[in-house]
Amino acid sequence: MNTLTVDLGDRSYPITIERGGLRRAGTLLNLRRRVLLVTDSGVPPVYSETVAAACDNVFRTVIPQGEATKSLASAQGLWELMLDNGFSRGDCVVAVGGGMCGDLAGFAAACYMRGIAFYNIPTTLLSQVDSSIGGKTAVDLNGVKNIIGTFYQPHAVLIDPDVLETLPCRLRAEGMIEAVKMALVFDAELFDRLTEAQDPYADLDDVLSRVLALKQTVVEQDERDTGRRNLLNFGHTLGHGVESASRGALYHGECVGLGMLPMCSPSVRERLLRFLERLGAPVIWRGDTAAVWQAVLHDKKLSESGINAVFVDEPGRGYLRRIQPEELRSRLEGAWKS
Ligand SMILES: NC(=O)c1ccc[n+]([C@@H]2O[C@H](COP(=O)([O-])OP(=O)(O)OC[C@H]3O[C@@H](n4cnc5c(N)ncnc54)[C@H](O)[C@@H]3O)[C@@H](O)[C@H]2O)c1
Repeated sequence: MNTLTVDLGDRSYPITIERGGLRRAGTLLNLRRRVLLVTDSGVPPVYSETVAAACDNVFRTVIPQGEATKSLASAQGLWELMLDNGFSRGDCVVAVGGGMCGDLAGFAAACYMRGIAFYNIPTTLLSQVDSSIGGKTAVDLNGVKNIIGTFYQPHAVLIDPDVLETLPCRLRAEGMIEAVKMALVFDAELFDRLTEAQDPYADLDDVLSRVLALKQTVVEQDERDTGRRNLLNFGHTLGHGVESASRGALYHGECVGLGMLPMCSPSVRERLLRFLERLGAPVIWRGDTAAVWQAVLHDKKLSESGINAVFVDEPGRGYLRRIQPEELRSRLEGAWKS
């Protein structure tokens, strides 16, 4: 077991990383009150059932899997459930699922009675290494992702790596891309370890702890994402463009992987490319580059003065630099050549 603490004064909270930790949810979290347990239809039910067994007064709801559920209508459904069942400020919401579930349940908890306790139990690798900590909660509106949301820190995060056994390979790889992103930006030694390992998943608990410690530090330094936390957007400038142009064919993490490649020095790019290939992730965008560029223009509202983007010339030393539209376009056009 390993416990980290995100130190944010009176909003501080523990992150527990423990195999089999789900079975100890009743000890690690305060579940002796009304509990709204939110999971989705793609998460094996045994995970939320295990947590429910530790509660005295639980309302377990299974929402449809998929990003389309991350909506105001779903949040309203959760608020109504709480209201109809007499939830008060002393009660809590628990998410057992990936980033979709966590973002939605966290948002619902943040707004109900101006904020009730929220526990996050992430079950995908992406949510374990990234989305479950940091307090960004949101829903999508009219196709725009995460446009309605709050900063609302969870009261505790419980990470049980055993739940990843049921995760399909492609989703595991997606989480590993987020992990390598953190290593590239902040931790050269971790990047070496991941790229040189026979099996990047072999030491997963340790990788999780290290990546979470990196994110913890960034969140402590810049909770509201006005400075250093922007570095976590590495790969997102072009990645969002690819995501939009791929129309759902590629996962978010895969798009971030593709989006990181053009923003690296040649030597780093080569190592990242080999790593992505080993994960089975795409390293070439086979679609229309013009469509990606149009989506980047639309998404980033590129002005004449350019935008801030993240670059990595040397592992562990990500930095922000203002980039002009022409340079971004030429990086895009030179990218993903085999
Ligand atoms: N809040 C943040 O800081 C932040 C950061 C990054 C991403 N996000 C958000 O996270 C979401 C993506 O998260 P995600 O990749 O976890 O996707 P997700 O929550 O949609 O989960 C992906 C799929 O995996 C299934 N699943 C979950 N756990 C499983 C398990 N243990 N075994 C088998 N299947 C399982 C789910 O049912 C779902 O079908 C997006 O909505 C994105 O906007 C938020």
